[in-house]
Amino acid sequence: MAGTKTFTMIKPDGVESNNIGNILQMITDAGFAIKAMKLTRLSTEQAQEFYAIHAERPFYGELVEYMTSGPIVSAILEKDNAVEDFRTLIGATNPAEAAEGTIRAKYAESIGRNAVHGSDSDENAEIEGNFHFPVAEVVA
Ligand code: CMP
Repeated sequence: MAGTKTFTMIKPDGVESNNIGNILQMITDAGFAIKAMKLTRLSTEQAQEFYAIHAERPFYGELVEYMTSGPIVSAILEKDNAVEDFRTLIGATNPAEAAEGTIRAKYAESIGRNAVHGSDSDENAEIEGNFHFPVAEVVA
């Protein structure tokens, strides 16, 4: 059975363009409950660790530099079928390919500056959520 939790970040471009409120509105309108949330800024070491799975990709350096370039909002979200439904809500990684009405179609600038992150599996949702929020911080 699909899990009920996913993890998201509103990336530096989404914060810088003043779309925190608009993006959170779309998330809660879609039926997700916010179980933990913070405005934070990643250190280079944190961004490298978070994106370690992409370490061999040509865009890794650029990704780490971008994700540390300004504040982000990280959050744990809850809903039935959370991972898949959230990925549908945010749209394709490249906003040029994102379906109309999705968060990335509305607010993302490019494949690198793509406004939001969404976990790609239940396992990664757990790992990524724990990375940003020690268990004690999550609201029951
Ligand atoms: P996300 O799904 O949050 O996690 C990996 C990120 O790498 C992805 O979002 C994109 O922002 C970024 N990414 C993927 N492909 C490219 C690319 N070709 N160039 C730059 N960034 C990319």
